[in-house]
Amino acid sequence: MLFATKVGFAQSLPNKPVTADHKPSKLQAGKSSETAKEKQSFNPGETWNDTGHVPINAHGGGILFFENKYYWFGQFMVGGDAGNSAQVGVSCYSSENLYQWENEGIALKVDESDSLSDIAKGCILERPKVIYNSKTRKFVMWFHLELKGKGYDEARSGVAVSDKVSGPYMYVNSFRPDAGTWPANVKHYHKKPVSIDVKSAYCGGKGCLPMHPDSLNLLGRDFKKGQMARDMNLFADDNGSAYLIYSSEENSTLHISKLSDDYLSSGGKYTRVFANRYMEGSAMFKRNGKYYIFASDCTGWEPNAARSAVADSIFGSWTELGNPCIGADSALTFHSQSTFVLPVAGKKDAFIFMADRWNPKNAIDGRYVWLPVQFKNERPVLKWSDKWDLSVFK
Ligand code: GAL
Repeated sequence: MLFATKVGFAQSLPNKPVTADHKPSKLQAGKSSETAKEKQSFNPGETWNDTGHVPINAHGGGILFFENKYYWFGQFMVGGDAGNSAQVGVSCYSSENLYQWENEGIALKVDESDSLSDIAKGCILERPKVIYNSKTRKFVMWFHLELKGKGYDEARSGVAVSDKVSGPYMYVNSFRPDAGTWPANVKHYHKKPVSIDVKSAYCGGKGCLPMHPDSLNLLGRDFKKGQMARDMNLFADDNGSAYLIYSSEENSTLHISKLSDDYLSSGGKYTRVFANRYMEGSAMFKRNGKYYIFASDCTGWEPNAARSAVADSIFGSWTELGNPCIGADSALTFHSQSTFVLPVAGKKDAFIFMADRWNPKNAIDGRYVWLPVQFKNERPVLKWSDKWDLSVFK
C-alpha cells in the first residue's frame, strides 16, 4: 500500500476487542544501557522508558511548559493494530529536564460506559495538545476526534478542560471548526453555489480529488457544517492569542484559526494556507519574530518527506522552505512524522523537533524521534543524530 487513506485505513481496522492495559508491563520495557534515572541524552528511535522503567506512551504528542515543569501529553496506544484507535485516552508525563519523565497517569479518559459518547472507547482520538489560558486559569486540550465506527469521516476537533495541568480533563464538546465563517483570504468563487457533482466525502488521501480543492469548492461545501479538521496542532503566541492549525478540505489544505479568548472554540477568524499541498502533522513555532511551520505530506502512517515554511505574520503569506531534513533518510523524515516543536525553556534559539515513528501493526511500540532544530541562512535544518543532549544549544 503506497499510503493508507483516512477512510480506507479506518475501514480496515479489525473489530476485535483489545485489552486496555493502562500501564504497559515491565516486560515491554526496552533494553537500555542507561536506566531512566541516569538518562542524560536523547536517543531518537530507541525505546524511551519513564522513571518507572516502562516505555513512555504518549504518541502524536505535544508538550506544555508550566511552572518549571514540562508536561508531555499524547495518545496512549495499546498493542496490535486496533491499538491505533483510542482504547484508553490521553496520557500525561512530567519532567524537569526533558530526559526523565514521570508517568502522571491518564489525563483524559475515553468513555467506557457509554458507547454513544463522542469519546467512547474505540473512537479515534489523535494528536492531543494542551495550552494554558491565564485568563480563565484553565488548561485546555484540543485533539482530532473521529466518532467510534465512523472511520475518518467526521473530521472533528475535540476540546477538554482541566483546572490542574495533569488532569483529569473533562470533555467539553467536539465540532467542525469555523462553521458559517469565510476565511480571511476567501476567494469570490468560494461563495458561489457548490455543484451537485461535488461529493460529500472524498477518500481523504492525495490523488482522491479529481481537481484542485478550489475548483471543487470544498470550502463552500463545508461552509455551513464547519470545516473538516483532521491532523491538528495548537500554537500559543506570546501575546496570549492561540491558534488551531488543522488539515482541512479532505486534507488538501491547512487552515489556521484563531481561538476564542477562552481557547474553547474557533474564534471566527481563520485563513487557508498551502492549498492542495496535503500538509499533515503540522507543528508551528516562533523564532526571532518569525513564524515557522513543519509539516508532512499526506501518506497515512507511512513516512514521507517533511515540509517547512516561514511567515512574518501567522495568517501569512507563508513561504515554503522545502524539506528541512538533510542526510540519509531525509526523504522519509528519518522514518517519522512531525507532531510538535518544543521551545526549550530558558534557552534562546533552542527548539526540539518532535516526531512519531508510527507502528500501525503494534501501535504501542511507536517510537519518538526528537532532534534539535538547527538554522542555516534562516532556514530550519534537521539532521539525524543517534544520541544528543541539550548542550547542543548554546
Ligand atoms: C496520518 C496522521 C495520523 C493518523 C494516520 C492514520 O497521516 O498524521 O495522525 O491520522 O494518518 O492513517
